[in-house]
Amino acid sequence: MSNTAQLILDGKTYELPVIEGTEHERAIDISKLRSLTGGVTTIDPGYKNTGATKSAITFLDGEKGILRYRGYSIGYSIEELAERSTFLEVAYLLIYGELPNEEQFSSWKSEITMHTMVHEEIKNILDGFPSNAHPMGVLSSLVSALTAFYPKSLDPNRSIKQVDLSIARIIAKMPTIAAWAFKNEIGHPVNYPDNTLDYCENFIKMMFATPAETYSVDPVVSDALNKLLILHADHEQNCSTSTVRIVGSSQASLYSSISAGISALWGPLHGGANQAVIEMLEGIKSSGGDTKKYLDKAKDKNDPFRLMGFGHRVYKNFDPRATIIKKAADGVLAKLGVNDPVLDIARGLEEAALKDEYFVSRKLYPNVDFYSGIIYRAMGIPTEMFTVMFTLGRLPGWIAQWKEMRENNEPIGRPRQVYTGHNSRPYMELGER
Ligand code: SDX
Repeated sequence: MSNTAQLILDGKTYELPVIEGTEHERAIDISKLRSLTGGVTTIDPGYKNTGATKSAITFLDGEKGILRYRGYSIGYSIEELAERSTFLEVAYLLIYGELPNEEQFSSWKSEITMHTMVHEEIKNILDGFPSNAHPMGVLSSLVSALTAFYPKSLDPNRSIKQVDLSIARIIAKMPTIAAWAFKNEIGHPVNYPDNTLDYCENFIKMMFATPAETYSVDPVVSDALNKLLILHADHEQNCSTSTVRIVGSSQASLYSSISAGISALWGPLHGGANQAVIEMLEGIKSSGGDTKKYLDKAKDKNDPFRLMGFGHRVYKNFDPRATIIKKAADGVLAKLGVNDPVLDIARGLEEAALKDEYFVSRKLYPNVDFYSGIIYRAMGIPTEMFTVMFTLGRLPGWIAQWKEMRENNEPIGRPRQVYTGHNSRPYMELGER
């Protein structure tokens, strides 16, 4: 295959290099296009055909439904994944590039354990939010507020030691902040971390324990959370990760970049879809299980409704995460003794859609958000916290991608445009308008 591409423009032929990745993906390098052609650029709304970077972190093959973190496939059955790894181990792998050895893993875990508490004044900020504040807005605000408590984190060039400390702090404190956002919403007192527990157990206890009762974490719930966080940990250049990268490219701090990523993930077309899926399934249930009505709405171009949890920019066959989560849903609900009618509605909707020409022709399959909410709900997580759960999972991926962008000294992100506004025109006095 050729390692150059030819572009013919205005009778001139331009040679452009073609680069190939380790998984044989190829890209035409247009980084010199503007200077070669005297100002001509490309345009690609939504960057559907445009690579923003080279990355060694996560590989997706949309046709084969492959997802690998630093070369390790997460396409295992859900049981293997849980037995073989923990979320903190996957976080280390994504951020530092290799699975940790015993010594590295032990110091990684103790470093994180020692940073689970947040500054007491975070409570004052939290108290300023009304109880109806969406937890994603609280989370994005409090993560940005961490820059006030850790001013040394503001300079991403300060030192590797400082960056590693900032990384450990945000991984350790995100569960605390997330659980506190939830407690603020339900008017309960916050719980402090319990460092005798592991990462997932600690979060669950902070979420559900109350001063009035003794609380013990259900291992089924912490085990399910461990799997779900692993499955959400990174996904190459998705919308929120690209946001984290472009904010970080201006040399804004890690916490500012993560805060921006949380806001991008919040959208219903992205991470907010897991909340929208449950709301859609509840809507189908309350309308007597009329799946066809919702499928017809999704196909109607005049109706803005989309089948939430369906479709993906990259996966055009199946989302391996959705397959694993769908399989896990049965087991988790059975172990928890939960019988949720929306699980059957979800299955029925998937079955009907996958027989429908509209969805098949557009290669629209369930994505990671289609079944995850059903498990979260069975675990006792309220709907408005679903995208917060996605945030907890995606945090190490955002950090890894931000760190890679900084270490590669990537230039500030500043796309071009094609101007379609007025040409030059003279100012008109008020009386003449
Ligand atoms: C995530 O990028 C990632 O990796 C994201 C993510 C991650 O881990 O970071 O995987 C997480 O965000 C998963 C996606 C969650 N969002 C949803 O479930 C919302 C519903 N899905 C869609 O809005 C949509 O499928 C997207 C946003 C996911 C993808 O949109 P694209 O790639 O821009 O596709 P498109 O909008 O160009 O759609 C192509 C066609 C269009 O029809 P035509 O104009 O060709 O006739 O498919 C249709 C769309 O109208 N279509 C849908 C649909 N998704 C696409 N029609 C109905 N229901 C849908 N869900």
